[in-house]
Amino acid sequence: MSREIIVRSPATIANFGPGFDIFALALEGPSDVLKIRPARRGDIVIRVSGGYPDLPTKPEDNTAGLAALHFFRRTGADGGADIEIIKRMPSCAGLGSSAASAVAAVFGLDKIYRTGLEPHDIIEMASLGEAASGGTPHADNVAACALGGFVFVRSTRPLHVEKFLVPSIPVVVRVRKKDRTTTRGLIPAEFSLARMKEQMAGCAAVILAVLQGDIEDIGASINRDHISEPVRSRSIPGYDDLKRKVLETGAFGCNVSGGGSSVFAVCAEEKLETVAAAMRAFGDPGGAEPEVFVTRSSNEGVKEIHGL
Ligand code: HSE
Repeated sequence: MSREIIVRSPATIANFGPGFDIFALALEGPSDVLKIRPARRGDIVIRVSGGYPDLPTKPEDNTAGLAALHFFRRTGADGGADIEIIKRMPSCAGLGSSAASAVAAVFGLDKIYRTGLEPHDIIEMASLGEAASGGTPHADNVAACALGGFVFVRSTRPLHVEKFLVPSIPVVVRVRKKDRTTTRGLIPAEFSLARMKEQMAGCAAVILAVLQGDIEDIGASINRDHISEPVRSRSIPGYDDLKRKVLETGAFGCNVSGGGSSVFAVCAEEKLETVAAAMRAFGDPGGAEPEVFVTRSSNEGVKEIHGL
């Protein structure tokens, strides 16, 4: 049995425009790092360090802890887990931070206890763990974090996820924490047929653009969403103006990242700094200048690293 595994787990943009709960894109950074050690049977200890230490440490309330509980329940592995989460990405901001912890926990425990899990099992257990943050299991962030690239959840029961390799897509993210843990409950349960047709067309457009590897078209196809964006954008002051400005600077597309309230834009390489400046200039009323970072998509998901 290994003594300690260090795992790097990347941020992800779920929904990626119109794909509510079914699309997500893995990012090159930021990432969380988890140090995982074996522990006595039944013990699950969570410690949090790094820049964002405001996370619960009770295993049932922490996505890594809950994922670990599911791991032991499902595999019957004889032991426990001592997990140190070194937070390097903003939590509660729609960047897949909770999924990153859940995936890293299952991935690391699988290596420690040599349980031979398939990526599919890791995604399933980690998405159960993610329920600690969002209430309902969903696999989008988790799948992108586990597999890298662009993922598409083609079936939830049984869980079946497709991964597509993507070109290096330049991405700018304006970080904003959401005002409440989850806003999933505010999303309407029903939509008109006309809306659904547009939404289906939008999802098909994203898939086509990804398959063609056309960054401009990928950006254009993530621009419109009838499910998440109208609800999540309501809690982002000035969202419509921000999006208009970002598009005016030449970004190909802009939308809310995952459950919000961060906003992301896809643009050409040479526009990264201009788009970032437009996002930075757009502060919340009375608030400090927002954190904005420049990154890109990555075809690499969770992985073991050897040292911090
Ligand atoms: N698809 C999820 C949502 C991602 O929009 O709520 C955030 O967990």
